[in-house]
Amino acid sequence: MQKILVTGGCGYIGSHTIVDLIENGYDVISVDNNSRSNPNMFSGIEKITGKKIKNYKVDLCNYDDTFAIFLENADIKGVIHFAAYKSVEESVKDPLLYFENNINSLVNLLKCVQEFKVPNFVFSSSCTVYGDADDMTVTESTPLMPAESPYGMTKQMGEQIVNEFSKSTGLRSILLRYFNPAGAHPSTAIGEMPLGKPQNLVPAITQTAIGRIPKMFVHGTDYVTRDGSCIRDYIHVCDLANAHTLALKYLEEGRNNSLSEIFNLGSGNGVTVLEAIHAFEKVSGVKLNYETGPRRAGDVEAIYANNDLAKNTLSWKPKYSLEDIMSTAWKWEQFLKADETVFRSQPGELN
Ligand code: WQD
Repeated sequence: MQKILVTGGCGYIGSHTIVDLIENGYDVISVDNNSRSNPNMFSGIEKITGKKIKNYKVDLCNYDDTFAIFLENADIKGVIHFAAYKSVEESVKDPLLYFENNINSLVNLLKCVQEFKVPNFVFSSSCTVYGDADDMTVTESTPLMPAESPYGMTKQMGEQIVNEFSKSTGLRSILLRYFNPAGAHPSTAIGEMPLGKPQNLVPAITQTAIGRIPKMFVHGTDYVTRDGSCIRDYIHVCDLANAHTLALKYLEEGRNNSLSEIFNLGSGNGVTVLEAIHAFEKVSGVKLNYETGPRRAGDVEAIYANNDLAKNTLSWKPKYSLEDIMSTAWKWEQFLKADETVFRSQPGELN
């Protein structure tokens, strides 16, 4: 079995990707320092797959500790790099924290990939790299506008670093631009674990519905869209996870057309904030307590994916609908409420 190193394996997309990799016959190890994630996610992965995942509790900003992982696992055949800070709001408040963490960790990792000649590298990027694109539907060749936040800048820089790395070393890479990841694994054994007050729409909806937060606000209803609220492309986290497995297979089988390729990972459907809320209410039967409020700084009016390239080249077939996103996210929120002890403790409080 091919051994794959997943960085950020305790995280939201990382944990779901580990499940998909295992179900597709890969051997997986993880590196995650749990500074922003919950190690209990591994018990959820074991519940689904029956596999105990070895996690190296290492900060990738420490080169020696990162090197030691590769020294111990010289048979690593691929790396999927998720580990990074990802809060738009926090990055605006503390840009150096984001540049130091997201860039240093990537450079250290790539140094080890080069040293140990790991042939395949998949980088977790984001639609945020498009900035406030002129077109609503973006393809991989849509020109990048200035990033709207230091977080977005680290993703734009990260893509350039990986691209130059591949060109200089001949090691193959893929950059995956996620749109809006949401939902949870249908087993309800793993899901999204926002730290503190949720910034993202779907966890804000489910935490409001379960009463964790009293009310939520729709950030702006005066946009030039069909109902005035922003349009986004919500993609189920399990569909996103499967795209990573397909990207690895694509590289392993040498089907890549160039050393570094980019793919949009979105559903291809634009949904407004109010439509997302109504979809949740329909699926859950819960009337959501929300108010319309002012716009949120940094929000773009509308963005959603043209995902043809990933579908045609990676044979990616997203199968979950917006309703599936809402129903799995709601089931997960209800599970968390019932299981306050295990999952709700903040990282670092756990043994
Ligand atoms: C979606 C829409 C909000 C919360 C960000 C990152 C992106 C990616 C996904 C990492 C917006 C509105 C939200 C709320 C609201 N992250 N909203 N009330 O900003 O599109 O993307 O997360 O890869 O890189 O930029 O996602 O879920 O925060 O917001 O009205 O309580 O929901 O204004 O229009 P966003 P989001």
